[in-house]
Amino acid sequence: MAPNKLKRVGILTGGGDCPGLNAVIRSIAKPAMAIGATVIGVQDGFEGLVEGRSRELKPKDIGGIVNLGGTILGTSNKGNPFQYPVETPRGIEVYDYSQNAIRNYQDWELDALFAIGGDGTMHIVDRFTDLGLSLVGIPKTIDNDLSATDMTFGYDSAMSVATEAIDRLHSTGSAHHRVMVIEVMGRYAGWIALGAGLAGGADVILIPEFPFVWEKLYEHVLRRSKLGSRFSIVCVAEGAKPADGELVVKEKDKKRTDPFRLGGIGELVGKKIEDETGLETRVTVLGHVQRGGSPTPFDRVLATKFGSMALRVAMEGKFGHMVSLRGQDVTVVSVKDAILKLRTVPPDSQLILAAKAVGTGFGV
Ligand code: F6P
Repeated sequence: MAPNKLKRVGILTGGGDCPGLNAVIRSIAKPAMAIGATVIGVQDGFEGLVEGRSRELKPKDIGGIVNLGGTILGTSNKGNPFQYPVETPRGIEVYDYSQNAIRNYQDWELDALFAIGGDGTMHIVDRFTDLGLSLVGIPKTIDNDLSATDMTFGYDSAMSVATEAIDRLHSTGSAHHRVMVIEVMGRYAGWIALGAGLAGGADVILIPEFPFVWEKLYEHVLRRSKLGSRFSIVCVAEGAKPADGELVVKEKDKKRTDPFRLGGIGELVGKKIEDETGLETRVTVLGHVQRGGSPTPFDRVLATKFGSMALRVAMEGKFGHMVSLRGQDVTVVSVKDAILKLRTVPPDSQLILAAKAVGTGFGV
């Protein structure tokens, strides 16, 4: 397809926000406007596509946003068009509203729709591609759990925030001779805990990929204490679970694309360490500060490379594809390949080997 064939393009951001979304929006919209295309910003992710909420983006909307956190378009992790949650007198019921989304796409006369999102968004991109819409996926998530890309933007920013938090806990923990437990996000993958734990010098890192044994965890902090290190840092992924226990779920919400909201393992780990070892323990749950604020330079650059490549992909008519990072380069993969499985931490990851080499425990 020749470049000037793209007359009207849409952009939406789906799922949980992450730093770098605005940098992507800008890097699609600027070159699209430069070739004369009209750019439609769909509001609040797929909810806006189903409900027909959008606005035309103008150059002033996309100026000065490369460093801005959040998303100027709004987002939602509750609006899967194929399982759309509706409040009824009988409670929440789920309907297939994909035809409403298709109608809006057609009414807006889009030649291409760019969907910036995580795993849930890519599943929706795949289904609409099968129904004949022209979509290109752009992977984002702080969790870094999408396969078919070496990294998603948002991860580096979240890892930086978590690392800074661990640094801060180090100084107060060592001053008071305490065990400091920090719970970080990441859903069913341990990338944030592992990356930040390694960068921050955590003594123990608990991740979903390695169900941990309570006794091994106690042994590790007690050993440190006996050897004279009078404090320990334990970095826990929200999806970590004990080998003899379950995932800790904060709430179940049928409206969400993933109904489970994780959280609470940090409190449990902190309480058990204090009860079983007698060491004074404090717990910090980092929460959404990991998702907010400005993207790191790395994420701004990756987001810009992703967005500009995505526009080129659409110009070539390669729909049903997702841009992806392979080594240093941005390339393109089929969305079907990207959604085959979640990208979790492999046991032989160099991050794991490096952490073990410097004495970090995994509770196994
Ligand atoms: O997927 C990103 C993420 O931040 C996860 O790490 C976390 O489990 C989830 O979203 C939190 O979702 P919410 O913002 O709906 O609480």
